[in-house]
Amino acid sequence: MELQERLEDLKNSTQAKLAKMRGDNAKELQELRVQVLGKKGSLTELLQGLKELSAEARPIVGKQVNEVRDVLTKAFEEQAKIIEAAKIQAQLESESLDVTLPGRQIKLGSRHILSQISEEIEDIFLGMGYQIVDGLEVEEDYYNFERMNLPKDHPARDMQDTFYISQDILLRTHTSPVQARTLDSHDFSEGPLKMISPGRVFRRDTDDATHSHQFHQIEGLVVGEQISMGDLKGTLELISQKMFGQDRRIRLRPSYFPFTEPSVEVDVSCFKCGGEGCNVCKKTGWIEILGAGMVHPSVLEMSGVDAEKYSGFAFGLGQERIAMLRYGINDIRDFYQGDIRFIQQFK
Ligand code: DAH
Repeated sequence: MELQERLEDLKNSTQAKLAKMRGDNAKELQELRVQVLGKKGSLTELLQGLKELSAEARPIVGKQVNEVRDVLTKAFEEQAKIIEAAKIQAQLESESLDVTLPGRQIKLGSRHILSQISEEIEDIFLGMGYQIVDGLEVEEDYYNFERMNLPKDHPARDMQDTFYISQDILLRTHTSPVQARTLDSHDFSEGPLKMISPGRVFRRDTDDATHSHQFHQIEGLVVGEQISMGDLKGTLELISQKMFGQDRRIRLRPSYFPFTEPSVEVDVSCFKCGGEGCNVCKKTGWIEILGAGMVHPSVLEMSGVDAEKYSGFAFGLGQERIAMLRYGINDIRDFYQGDIRFIQQFK
């Protein structure tokens, strides 16, 4: 029977082609599959021939067509598997994998030393019932200066020139304006105000080893009934001891800030020599760490707080200064350069 012979032929020749096929030719395989098993392929063509057969022969040959299709379908699948395996093998051979190499370690980052200092100080004050307040880096001239008792044309403004957004809006020169903003909103019937406010400040300055046009401060403010200079001293002594060691003493020297009266400069006894005199304290035994004072009555009055009834103290410290002293850092620019060798020392 001619049709049966052609079927047998197709099966044999296709199997022979598959057997000769290289292990890496997926495209060739796909083409052959379409040619043989596709809708318009050889097998379909042979199937058309069934119509011409007698009624007895048709089911016999029909069964044979199905068998050939099954056999070839399987053969194509087998070949596809061989090609896939060859592909993986080739990939493995081209990639050299050394399983004895040590694993790659994930490098753990760390908090920046300035963040660490600020968190350390925040923790100490949180423990004493202070709240932590966020201020504004872009501030109004009004809050930065006038509400801090520095009216326009006040000579002390000269020391704090800054970047102006407009005539009335500037980058704050200190964290002190947060004092006015918190005083404005504090409800004294609920108790005294105790807050610290860490943040970034700006000055018009030429950057060198000890100056930067931006740096970080922490403002402190306590206002309530009968808050005295003794409270200020006790608080600063405690923070000095926590930061620089249990044996530290502090001393207050008269100073001037427009927003405090009286104003003081605060020195801590040298943590390196203990007061004998060394290179850290420049042979004086004392290191200046911050400015402070009793809140000026005008600052309270401008917030509508009765200065006869309420009094308070304030202080402002520089975070960079604390870190530089504590770790013997000589150049303030080291904080901002993002040099991993510097940053990693404070893990
Ligand atoms: N704002 C001052 C400055 O940047 C620092 C300061 C001094 C803040 C005395 C205070 C203070 O709250 O009482 O130089």
